[in-house]
Amino acid sequence: MARRTLIAGNWKMNGSVSSLDFFDAIAPAARNSQAEILICPPSTLLYQAAQACAGSGIRVGGQDCHARQSGAHTGDISAPMLREAGASHVIVGHSERRADHGETDALVRAKSEAALEAGLVPVICVGETREEREAGRAVEVVASQLAGSLPEKSRDMPLVIAYEPVWAIGTGLTASVDDVANMHSAIRQCLPDPLTTCILYGGSVKPGNAADLLGLDDVDGALVGGASLKSIDFSAIIAAVSRKSEPLR
Ligand code: PGA
Repeated sequence: MARRTLIAGNWKMNGSVSSLDFFDAIAPAARNSQAEILICPPSTLLYQAAQACAGSGIRVGGQDCHARQSGAHTGDISAPMLREAGASHVIVGHSERRADHGETDALVRAKSEAALEAGLVPVICVGETREEREAGRAVEVVASQLAGSLPEKSRDMPLVIAYEPVWAIGTGLTASVDDVANMHSAIRQCLPDPLTTCILYGGSVKPGNAADLLGLDDVDGALVGGASLKSIDFSAIIAAVSRKSEPLR
């Protein structure tokens, strides 16, 4: 089964009701693309975002969920709540959650399982720090994160993996195409369904580098932070996907 390209935007803690015209602005690029388009706004905007993109084919997702379906967890949001608000996906284990909230692989696994149980596709994030890369441990670290973060029963499950080197997030730095190609191929070998699981690259994806990154065989899309806040930039990244399917000269 061919993997469909997924271009996902992560708004992080940005956006307000006035940002919802973003969906109309990217609709032409989304319509002309074969890629699946996903936007993960802050949870306060999720329901309105889902309404704003109804009928456009654009999907919305959460940025995190709790590992339990409900209960006494003040301030948290469960996967079924995201689903009810209109989400199809949820990002779990983003490095900002791992760093700011001390999320461990075991917790990310529990969140991935909660997402699947609620009918959401978990977008499971992994990635090494600069020190780990410089020590030559990038592949080992990412393989270990995957081993600990994937759901216990992940075969035949709709999972998305996002490789996001921590040092490339929000810094303007991107991994070289060779490093991305090597890492994505290593990640694929760690997956129970290597042929069908979509692996995104994230970390300073911009209109200027999207075509090169998306052109790699094992890169099935992008998880875009900063450049997903501007409809012009995000539309340009969506447009870069069509170049992925053009034959190489
Ligand atoms: P960035 O963020 O594109 O701003 O580097 C990517 C991410 O954190 O998903």
